[in-house]
Amino acid sequence: MTILEEVHDYWNRQSCGTGVTDAPKHSRAYFEEIEQYRYAVEPEIFAFAQFTRHSGQKMLEVGVGAGTDFLQWCRAGTQAHGVDLTEEAIANVQHRLEIFSQRAVELKVANAEKLPYPDNNFDLVYSWGVIHHSPDTEKCFAEIARVVRKDGTVKLMLYHRHSLVAFYLWVRYGLLRGRLWRSLSDVVYHHMESIGTKSYTRSEVHDMARRHGLAVRNIDVTASPTYDLLGQYPWPLRAGAYVLASLAGFSRCGWYMRIEMTKGCG
Ligand SMILES: C[S@@+](CC[C@H](N)C(=O)[O-])C[C@H]1O[C@@H](n2cnc3c(N)ncnc32)[C@H](O)[C@@H]1O
Repeated sequence: MTILEEVHDYWNRQSCGTGVTDAPKHSRAYFEEIEQYRYAVEPEIFAFAQFTRHSGQKMLEVGVGAGTDFLQWCRAGTQAHGVDLTEEAIANVQHRLEIFSQRAVELKVANAEKLPYPDNNFDLVYSWGVIHHSPDTEKCFAEIARVVRKDGTVKLMLYHRHSLVAFYLWVRYGLLRGRLWRSLSDVVYHHMESIGTKSYTRSEVHDMARRHGLAVRNIDVTASPTYDLLGQYPWPLRAGAYVLASLAGFSRCGWYMRIEMTKGCG
């Protein structure tokens, strides 16, 4: 089995973020509970995506998953196109749009390493937590740069290697197992969601953007209250996380690297 097949099978079993509800699959309550949970634990998505600001634009979301953000793109009045590697995700999102009376221009199964769109086709390409799961992340990055139009915007969330979350994984799978030599990349690769997950530093992202003609406008790695600061754990762990974050710098040690780029200028 190739890594891409393993990634497909992992996410096709259950779409990301759908395990938080017991409501019947594809019911209104099912989707509402998924949405409520997502934006409670990841409120930073709104400030980053700025859904309504892109109203009217031709938008592609790469890796729609269960479609919580995709629904917001539709509600915001973008010309929404969405792709995902898995049939499960696409079926989920089709049901979701129907229940909430929303329409997308197009929604289909596709591999981000080979996007089925012409060059310079979208005003905005958005992807939250997706391409670091694909075996050839740089190919996905190149494809995103290819399909966004000149002066168009790319908003991408990639996992940040120099983060508290990566450090916690290292403590759990390196330190506590007596395997101190394991690197942060290695523990993320083997123990974060599907096999082969990658994590990046800010300078790696700058280099990758330069190679593909994108200018980085902003990279935000502020600590996530839920994940880096262990918001759902007992207070002694939360207190420890606060101490670590204050030593590392709250704005420097977050797991979510929110990257905003523009094509062909800067
Ligand atoms: C962590 S989930 C994120 C989903 C969604 N963006 C979200 O934030 O909930 C990762 C998603 O990436 C998709 N994915 C992984 N590799 C992909 C690829 N090469 N092409 C398209 N989608 C991919 C998976 O199928 C899965 O739906």
